[in-house]
Amino acid sequence: GSFLACQKKDSASAQNKTASERVKLVIASDATWPPMEFVDENKNIVGFAPEMMKAIAEAAGFDVEIRNTAWDGIFAGLAAGNYDAICSSVTITEERKQTMDFSEPYVNAGQVLVVAKTLNGVSTLKDMIGKKVGAQIGTTGAIEIQKVSGVELATYDEVGLAFEDLANGRIAGVVADNPIAADFALQNPKFKDKLKIVGEPFTDEWLGIAVRKGDTKTLALINEGLAKIKANGKLEAIAKKWLH
Ligand code: ARG
Repeated sequence: GSFLACQKKDSASAQNKTASERVKLVIASDATWPPMEFVDENKNIVGFAPEMMKAIAEAAGFDVEIRNTAWDGIFAGLAAGNYDAICSSVTITEERKQTMDFSEPYVNAGQVLVVAKTLNGVSTLKDMIGKKVGAQIGTTGAIEIQKVSGVELATYDEVGLAFEDLANGRIAGVVADNPIAADFALQNPKFKDKLKIVGEPFTDEWLGIAVRKGDTKTLALINEGLAKIKANGKLEAIAKKWLH
């Protein structure tokens, strides 16, 4: 376990902890999801989530190590104890709450459908019946595609590969979290002339930080820091910086 010694629970003492008293949390993040969590040119894990996680840690007086972890299997790795928490744009769902606990929500990120700029007459996923639509495997985007019978789901380990296939015409659409769809389809020079977002997000999804079920210590630390950065405007500043 990464809990070295966590005797002092009161937050007033957080700043005064000696190095050996401080807790270090290992956080898994699938850094393929710009601008939320991704790897920059210098191979650093950057974006909204790592910055938020560091701010939470600073506010609650613990240390963090962010570990790039493939999305497929990320929940199993948490259960197995490979890390303490997942901060990776995880949507808080009733189903996931059966097997893990979530922090308070930090961002709303509904699903959107992305299609080729040249494709007309599409306003919902139902208009994609008979077509292939891609999503990262095991995401809420993939779940939404599967809800519409007649739409064929194509799964990808990384969503960037789905956008590649969409741009090359191998699939007809991609469903993903609104902030990252906007980054790939509207900002990314590789795709922005070829792709468009269809309408508004069609789900209402809150992102949270996941911990092992029953790990109340870790959850309390994370929620303490999160509450502080919500109250002091730091979370909003991080959102302003990364979300467009
Ligand atoms: N919000 C979606 C979900 O929870 C997708 C998250 C994918 N995150 C990532 N870093 N690849 O299913």
